[in-house]
Amino acid sequence: MSEANPEKNTALMEKIVSLCKRRGFIFQSAEIYGGLNGCWDYGPLGAELKRNLKEYWWRKNVQEREDIVGLDGSILTHQEVLKASGHVGGFSDPMCDCLLSKARLRADQIESQSGTAYWFIGASHADSDWSVEREYAVLVTEGQDENKARKTARQYYAQFLPDKQISPKTLELAGERTELVEESTRFNPENGSLLTEAREFNLMFKTTMGASADESDESSVAYLRPETAQTIFTQFKNVVETNRLKLPFGIAQIGKSFRNEINPRNYTFRSREFEQMEIEFFCREEDGLALTDEWLERRLKFYEEIGIPREHLHVVDIPDGERAHYSKKTYDIEYEFPFGIQELEGVAYRGAYDLTKHQEHSGKPLELFDDERKEKVLPHVVEPSAGCDRTILALICEAYDEESITNEQGKVEERTLLRFSPRMAPIKVGIFPLLKNKPELVEKAREIQEMLSPFMNVYYDEAAAIGRRYRRQDEIGTPFCVTVDFDTLGESGDEAKDTVTLRERDSMSQQRISISELRSFLLDRIQ
Ligand code: GAP
Repeated sequence: MSEANPEKNTALMEKIVSLCKRRGFIFQSAEIYGGLNGCWDYGPLGAELKRNLKEYWWRKNVQEREDIVGLDGSILTHQEVLKASGHVGGFSDPMCDCLLSKARLRADQIESQSGTAYWFIGASHADSDWSVEREYAVLVTEGQDENKARKTARQYYAQFLPDKQISPKTLELAGERTELVEESTRFNPENGSLLTEAREFNLMFKTTMGASADESDESSVAYLRPETAQTIFTQFKNVVETNRLKLPFGIAQIGKSFRNEINPRNYTFRSREFEQMEIEFFCREEDGLALTDEWLERRLKFYEEIGIPREHLHVVDIPDGERAHYSKKTYDIEYEFPFGIQELEGVAYRGAYDLTKHQEHSGKPLELFDDERKEKVLPHVVEPSAGCDRTILALICEAYDEESITNEQGKVEERTLLRFSPRMAPIKVGIFPLLKNKPELVEKAREIQEMLSPFMNVYYDEAAAIGRRYRRQDEIGTPFCVTVDFDTLGESGDEAKDTVTLRERDSMSQQRISISELRSFLLDRIQ
């Protein structure tokens, strides 16, 4: 999907982003102040969609399982936890800056380019006697005008002019030389400017705790957690001691994580604040590899159950040398987003790495007593770690559809719809009186609303023609609509009395159903 037609996919993504804003799924954080980069607010429908996903994940992984318990750990994290886990020293991405635009780029994501690099050693301004000495280069790729290099270099050197009235065009460049470069990542693909050398940038958000704390007080430093997993490891002993758990067993958690991503991008895909749904499944060493495969299958089935078909998912078995050094097996589950095939979840066999590190660092034993074997063990762990926001984005991309239909008046029109699985849909049923100025119809529709709303999200709508009301619900993915008409009131005889029209979103098929059966009919389909 993503490789086939990049322009079409960009246009599709734009339509999805626009629908999400227009219908209140996702807004940019602090939009009225220009936006907070990498942060998103979920509007009323987005909040419901997210709640459905998280509740279903919890139901499948905690509620319906005897061997997994839940946890809700703090976001603010003790610095020692993250020193032990390796995040303080090592959780970083290589970054570099564009010398011209100051844009910050992930060094490992820069596309390589070939061409001629134009190097300069400085610039001067004859009239004011001003000069600067600094090496700088611009890449000119095939087909580009070499004068672009000189123009860009003048703009670069003009940054150092004390008198901002001097035009960059009047600068003399010094020491021009050229060099052929192959597959280089030293230049900004946007403007050809030389980049700074790559340096490591720690992705954690650091803060200080306590009223008297300041930056220089090292002991007051805390971090916003970069993953939910660490609280599971640090509370491992408490959870084991307060619950009767036997290996293998899991601890599950859903919650916010924070990473100061260098380049937040692709809408909500790479954010600075996001939610994770993680399980640490503790086991005996000899079961680790088989359980990793089992969890992979279970997670793929989960995605199918929420409406992301297997054929749009890709499983990558991460090869030796690319996995974390302590992992004997890691699978990435990827989804075909319109902007490319990208990771949704990782399923990793992490050995005993995490518990070993926390045991060493805290000096507290974290082994548990294996009753069957009558020995102390430090369990190994398999970790299915999913991104909630990424799954929401995948659900929206998967559900988005456009089709031509013939409307009630026989005219062909375009309909935009979200084909959410009824389980995930934010609103389960739209309830419409045929006419808003007929009190008997309105009263009946309100009765149905009252009957259903304790069990599911319903949307009462009496404005506009029925066709328009259906379209509004189609666009937000409501799987069912119920219309109360004159037959409901018994005007065409007793047979149809107290029945309503139930319309299904995808097929647009309609059937008559009695009001008394409505609740169980809907509940069977949305759970
Ligand atoms: N505990 C393991 C862990 O955190 P990860 O691969 O770094 O592993 C797991 O993250 C999942 O969290 C990813 O597969 C992704 O779905 C989600 N995730 C990670 N960084 C994210 C970001 N910046 N924005 C949105 N989701 C992110």
